[in-house]
Amino acid sequence: MHNITVLGTGYVGLVTGSCLSDFGLEVTCCDVDQTKIDTLNSGGIPIYEEGLDLIIKRNRDTGRLTFTSDIKKAVEAAKVIFIAVGTPARADGTADLSYVENAVKDIAKYINNEKVIVSKSTVPIGTTRKIKKWLEEDLKLLKKNISFEVISNPEFLREGSAVYDFMHPDRVIIGYESDAALAVMKDVYRVLYLNETPFVETTLETAETIKYASNSFLALKISYINQIAELCEKTGANVADVAKAMGKDGRIGSKFLHPGPGYGGSCFPKDTHAFAAAGRKYGSPLTIIETVINFNETHKQYVTNKIITKMGAVKDKTIGILGLAFKPNTDDMRDASSIFIIPALLKKGAKIRVYDPAAMKEAREKYFKGEKQIAYCTNEYDTLAEADALVILTEWNQFRNLDIKKIKTKMTGNFFFDYRNIYKRKEIEAAGFVYEGIGV
Ligand code: UDX
Repeated sequence: MHNITVLGTGYVGLVTGSCLSDFGLEVTCCDVDQTKIDTLNSGGIPIYEEGLDLIIKRNRDTGRLTFTSDIKKAVEAAKVIFIAVGTPARADGTADLSYVENAVKDIAKYINNEKVIVSKSTVPIGTTRKIKKWLEEDLKLLKKNISFEVISNPEFLREGSAVYDFMHPDRVIIGYESDAALAVMKDVYRVLYLNETPFVETTLETAETIKYASNSFLALKISYINQIAELCEKTGANVADVAKAMGKDGRIGSKFLHPGPGYGGSCFPKDTHAFAAAGRKYGSPLTIIETVINFNETHKQYVTNKIITKMGAVKDKTIGILGLAFKPNTDDMRDASSIFIIPALLKKGAKIRVYDPAAMKEAREKYFKGEKQIAYCTNEYDTLAEADALVILTEWNQFRNLDIKKIKTKMTGNFFFDYRNIYKRKEIEAAGFVYEGIGV
């Protein structure tokens, strides 16, 4: 059994470390942020992720999972070190690798015997090889003659189901150079090998490319159906039936063909930009991905314009927005359509009322700070009080069963923009609304 250290207790690091300890491995999670470590050591969890609390508790209680800010101790304790620190996007879309560089410096400083260094964060193609070079250079400077191996092992965790995704992955990708390091990774993922999870054992650059190619393809799939939805609005076809029928073709598959107000979140926008930047850097432009990025912006504008056009004008009109997060079951608003659509409507003079089951604090304190024309409401019906229009932006379950009659009596206007296609046009029209979905 190999001891594991995970550097970075953000979203990816914490899920990875906790789940690996649940495989029966000894895991140390290390972070430079002492407050985070204190929270974790006193039984708290800095993020909400379904099932994570139980896993952390179970493994912390047995002593298999520990949290520290003592990087020396963390590095010395491990045979395998996962680098799971943040790689935020810079203004030009490229990834900022300074946290990765710092982690490598720390490893060089405290490395005491042969180790396997695993790159887990989503990093530009070529970064794992860079990590190897940086570490070699640092060790040379420190006159340390210790050998190590590098691995690229990208994550595919969805927010909200990250623990499930870690435990039941569609595949595990291991980019490697030495057979010895691959053997160590096979030990680490022993539980998944026994479960017959498909493993792809490949080169470092291939592993890094798989991550970007997969996420960009998913963004492409969403954009594809969103663009078809726009066409359906002109031709009178129904995109829901188009998507359903397309999805029955096993070669296409039914997932990620749900039209909406544009994709958002912490991964797709960042990863498509980084992938496109790689294409430009290597002189092999990813024109398809460039188009996906541009189209997603155009589509957000399109759905905004649709509100304005259908309503005639939005100046001094009250618009009730249901859903602010980029998807249900999270308070995350990073690159959510709401942060494009709401300011665009405000600019045209609309008054906005909003409600989201989880993201109110994020909206108030981060994204719309100081914005006086936004009223933060306590529930769905409060949001629609005297509203001229209703816009559904996130498909929270509780928005799927709205009391339509009650809404009608609350609202002064009758515009119903269902931007997640969760209602049937006929039913909403029968209740006296003007119904607008996306391509249906
Ligand atoms: C995604 C990937 O699924 C995951 O594998 C990767 O590691 C990180 O990025 P996540 O960002 O958590 O996960 O959310 P996801 O459920 O994939 O949704 C992303 C966005 O696409 C959301 O804004 C969602 O509303 C949108 N979407 C998704 C659609 O508009 N239509 C769809 O059919 C699917």
